[in-house]
Amino acid sequence: MYEFRVAPSILAADFARLGAEVDDVAPAVPVVHVDVMDGHYVPNITLGPPVVASLRGATDRQLDCHLMVTDPGTYAPILLGLGVDSVTFHPEVEDEPLALVHRLHELGGEVGVALKPAFPLEMIEELLPHLDMVLVMTVEPGFGGQAFMPETVPKIAAAARWRQANDADYRIQVDGGIALDTIEAAAAAGADTFVAGSSVFGADDRVAAVRALLARARMAAPGGAPGERS
Ligand code: DX5
Ligand code: ZN
Repeated sequence: MYEFRVAPSILAADFARLGAEVDDVAPAVPVVHVDVMDGHYVPNITLGPPVVASLRGATDRQLDCHLMVTDPGTYAPILLGLGVDSVTFHPEVEDEPLALVHRLHELGGEVGVALKPAFPLEMIEELLPHLDMVLVMTVEPGFGGQAFMPETVPKIAAAARWRQANDADYRIQVDGGIALDTIEAAAAAGADTFVAGSSVFGADDRVAAVRALLARARMAAPGGAPGERS
């Protein structure tokens, strides 16, 4: 079991003052979630390498890039080259996703794979032993501020069961609609990393918002609050 963490999604931050926004959440988090969208994989465009480069120079927190792009084989290496700590891509856009996982590991990054709500875990069983993170999307990718989809919860539980049964060691991330009233279901099912945009950056006190989310998750965790992985 991994220690719980909240990864604030800067999609809900004020992009005109991004460095200050990240500084505002930094005391409460080890990692910041960066949504890269290309207008092709999803019908939205956010940011790319120039903004990530600036962000890398502005914070010492881990940067976790979630690539909602049709060509992660091009952009994930560029982002790792800029010094981000982890990259997560959607596997259905790649002919050989396992080869990309290996290539990104060789570049020194942690690697995750993201599953849209309709994308079943079984489709990536070949990848699972090699991953640092599985990202279970709890909304359709593309936009912040959407409602959590409870029908995705069984996939979180399936990812936790598969990890246990196969002695794998990936983190389980959830992303989309995570707030005080939804985080318990995700935590109870086995998630350990909670991406949260609106519910963190929409709060007046972002540090307090993160701490409240963590407290709520810990209350719901199977067997109580997890510590560091043993
Ligand atoms: C959606 C993004 C999410 C988004 C979450 O495609 O992957 O990371 O920022 O935003 P909230 O927490 O507002 O649902
Ligand atoms: Zn995301």
